[in-house]
Amino acid sequence: MDPVTLTRAWRGATVNMLAAALLSAPAMAPAQPTPTHARQAQLGHWLRDDCGACHGMTLRGGLGPPLTREALAGKPPESLVATVLYGRPGTAMPPWHPFMTQDEAQWLIERLRAGDPPAVMPVNAAPAR
Ligand code: HEC
Repeated sequence: MDPVTLTRAWRGATVNMLAAALLSAPAMAPAQPTPTHARQAQLGHWLRDDCGACHGMTLRGGLGPPLTREALAGKPPESLVATVLYGRPGTAMPPWHPFMTQDEAQWLIERLRAGDPPAVMPVNAAPAR
């Protein structure tokens, strides 16, 4: 999905869906299940294609700040997870909770903080290019 498609998807998301996602967000857990291989592939794909559009293809920053291990060191992981899920109102950082669960956002942040972002793997759902 390219950013333009994503933007359309965000606009298309109904208020009800957003409210449901917000209300059903589970409390922050210290450890979370690892996403399935297929979800890891999807998350890796988004990270490079969509997050990368703003944070840079190599995640070293662009419109958005770098998401490297160095840049994220010392920032509280739970606030980074919240940023991914709910975005930063008033900035370009969009909310991702319509697309991923809290566990998945936590997994993504853990991988980024470890300097080991998921690689791009073939995703069945990925648009042909
Ligand atoms: C449309 C552009 C855009 C996209 C797409 C985007 N971001 Fe961001 N992101 C930003 C901007 C801009 C900020 C800084 C907001 C601010 O000024 O506080 C940010 C901030 C963040 C932060 C906080 C960084 C810090 O140092 O505090 C994280 C983590 C983050 N984004 C992760 C992601 C992830 C993961 C994705 C993909 C799932 C993503 N972003 C997609 C623009 C984007």
